Amino acid sequence: MRATAIQTLAAAYREGVVAPCAANELADHIWPFADKVAFHQGDITKLEVDAIVNAANNSLLGGGGVDGAIHRAAGPKLLEECRGLNGCETGQAKTTKGYDLPAKHVIHTVGPVYSASKSDESARLLRSAYRTSLDQAVRHGVKSIAFPSISTGVYGYPFESACIEALSEVGHFLDQKGQGDKIDKVIFCCFSQPDLTRYRQAATRVFPPEDMHSQFAEDE
Ligand code: APR
Repeated sequence: MRATAIQTLAAAYREGVVAPCAANELADHIWPFADKVAFHQGDITKLEVDAIVNAANNSLLGGGGVDGAIHRAAGPKLLEECRGLNGCETGQAKTTKGYDLPAKHVIHTVGPVYSASKSDESARLLRSAYRTSLDQAVRHGVKSIAFPSISTGVYGYPFESACIEALSEVGHFLDQKGQGDKIDKVIFCCFSQPDLTRYRQAATRVFPPEDMHSQFAEDE
C-alpha cells in the first residue's frame, strides 16, 4: 500500500468518513495538520512508505508483536544491522535500512512499559518515543512515516490516552519550523478496525477541520 493511497484525516472529513468532534470536545491544544495525518488499518510491514516505526525493546534484537512482524518481513539482515546499534534507551530512536520491507527505513523506538503509579513519566517517555522517531525521520530525509500504536500492546499503555499523547506530540512536532515542515505525511497504522476507529475519533479532537480552526481562534 503506497503512502499516497492512504486517506488523510482532511480527506476523511471532506468525504464524510469521519465527523468533526463537537467544539466542547476539542483537546486543550489543536493543530492545523489534518491534511498531513492519515489513518490506516492493516499490517505496517506492507506499507510502501519512506519509514515505518518499530515498537522495539531496549535490546533492539527483536521480539513479538509488531517488532517480530517487522523482523520477519525485513529478513535476517535487519537483525544483523541492529546488533551493531548497541541497543536503544526507552524514549529514544535509531534508524536502519528496511531490507526486504517495502519501506526504505525502519526507525526503531522503545516506548515505556506503562506504569499507572508513574503515569506522567510514562506519558513523557511515550511522547519522547514519537518525537525522537520524527527527529530521525527528518535527519534521514523521510517524507512519509508510519507509526504503530507504540506501547499499547505488550507494554500495556491504555489505548485512548496513548492516542492523545501520540497525536499531540506529532502535532507539536509538525508545527516546528525547519522540522515538521519537512514531513509530508504521518500515518497511524492500526492493526485492528476497532483501534482505527478509536484512533481516528481521538484525532478529530487534536486535528479538527480547517473551518473549526478559524472559529476556535476567534473564541480564544
Ligand atoms: N502492524 C501494525 N501494528 C501491529 C502489528 C503489525 N504487523 N502487530 C502488532 N501491532 C500493534 C498491536 O496491535 C499494538 O496495537 O502494535 C501495537 C504495539 O503492540 P506491541 O507490538 O506489543 O508493542 P509494545 O506494546 O510497544 O510492546 C513492545 O513487545 O514485541 C515486543 O520486542 C517488543 O519488547 C517489545 C514489546
